[in-house]
Amino acid sequence: MSGGVQLAPSILAADFARLGEQVADAERAGVDRIHIDVMDGHFVPNLSMGAPVVNSLRRATRLPLEVHLMIENPDHFIEQFAQAGADCLIVHWEGMNDLSRTLRGIKALGRQAGVALNPATPAWALDEVLDDVDQVLVMTVNPGFSRQAFLSAMLGKIARIRRMIAQRKVACHLEVDGGIDHATAPSAVAAGADLLVAGSAIFNESDAVAAGVDRLRKATRI
Ligand code: DX5
Ligand code: ZN
Repeated sequence: MSGGVQLAPSILAADFARLGEQVADAERAGVDRIHIDVMDGHFVPNLSMGAPVVNSLRRATRLPLEVHLMIENPDHFIEQFAQAGADCLIVHWEGMNDLSRTLRGIKALGRQAGVALNPATPAWALDEVLDDVDQVLVMTVNPGFSRQAFLSAMLGKIARIRRMIAQRKVACHLEVDGGIDHATAPSAVAAGADLLVAGSAIFNESDAVAAGVDRLRKATRI
């Protein structure tokens, strides 16, 4: 997408019986990557999918696949997801004993590394790792489910992290995840987000995938 703002549809909201078709629709509509939410029922109160889904999608699309790991002990699974075809692995700051080692491990596998922050985690948690990450993901809902309401209190945190990235002059995406739709995306972009995850705003029963993508694009003029 032009204007520097990218779109990453989250398949958590997709119709899993038609997953390949829905991802192909998103690719045709011009999205930039596919966001895959992995949940273990422990780190978050929900279950979702694992590496086999990444493996199947790797054969179904040319788009980069980013995997958002909402699981305990993500170190145990990183290699598996990398082998399945993930281009980017995102781990939560809250779940790590040795975040720096994990990020270096992801890079050593030749994959991009991201760090996600839950709503209650402050921007300064990134202070010592920002130089080692390819993207920061700011959760704009509490993780675990699609279709939750955007937490506008996160806008200040997005802006603070955008300033940190500018001051450090690091090449790092600033991604937002949760409750992003045509109404909330403009404020997230204005605060400094350049990568938008959207689940239910793109995959839903009332509209075609392309229509959801178009509405987001128009809302953010991207
Ligand atoms: C929530 C996930 C999100 C979720 C977003 O824990 O990380 O990626 O699928 O869904 P929406 O856009 O519907 O809030
Ligand atoms: Zn996510």
